[in-house]
Amino acid sequence: MASPPTPTPPVPPLAPPEKRLMAGAGLLIVLVLLVAVVLNTGASDAPQAQTTSTTAPTVGRSRKSAAPPPRRPATPPPGTVTNPSDFDVLVDRQRSLPEGYQPADLVEVPVAFTFNGDSPKRLLRRTAADALTALFAAAEDAGLPLRAVSGFRSESSQRDLHDAYVAEDGEAEADRYSASPGHSEHQTGLAMDVTGFDGACPAEACFASRPEAAWLADHAHEFGFVVRYPAGAETLTGYSYEPWHLRYVGVDLAGELHRDGMTLDEWYGTAQR
Ligand code: DAL
Ligand code: ZN
Repeated sequence: MASPPTPTPPVPPLAPPEKRLMAGAGLLIVLVLLVAVVLNTGASDAPQAQTTSTTAPTVGRSRKSAAPPPRRPATPPPGTVTNPSDFDVLVDRQRSLPEGYQPADLVEVPVAFTFNGDSPKRLLRRTAADALTALFAAAEDAGLPLRAVSGFRSESSQRDLHDAYVAEDGEAEADRYSASPGHSEHQTGLAMDVTGFDGACPAEACFASRPEAAWLADHAHEFGFVVRYPAGAETLTGYSYEPWHLRYVGVDLAGELHRDGMTLDEWYGTAQR
């Protein structure tokens, strides 16, 4: 017996042309929206990356957002310096002042000293003297009054001093803490050794554990000075730790060196030993 034919489902009629057009347009809109979302996601990455860069813990990035780009000077060649009266002059074991150099604007610094009587050791260049006077006032306000120990030294007085240290300790040892004549920052009129008001530990290692030394390390830059020979930097500076030796370089450079934890030698790209 023949089975009855299976009924075929009715074929849906073709959508009229207007409906097909609308469906196509709808698809196009979906595609356009998709592309827009993708592009927008890419764009929103940019501000996100910027936000990340301002808060990133990397030194370079945070420095970039917090301060102007670091200045990097040319490394001065070894020998006699050509800019002895610049506040940022580099005088070190390899670079000396011109023979007999003496700054033209030395003045007496009106602060307390560890000694009485006249002496060239009371002198600094005018700008450095004003800055040191302000630093002493701030230290006193902080409850840590200071006394000055030794400022300007001529080439010949540096020679006498260095010779005395060599006689006492031998040349190799003396060279670790005393500059040869012509090579001392004291001859620039921009360096002053300081100590606490009680005069204890003048230019001596015990000054390192005094609160005045910690205050100077934290605040000297605010007045344009750096603690020029920091601890553990002998291979960079050429000299052992001198927490008492303040060198005027100007507020901008001192702030930069303090912020970056850098010696003047590193700033100039030199190392001394
Ligand atoms: N004590 C420092 C290095 C000088 O003699 O200038
Ligand atoms: Zn000194």
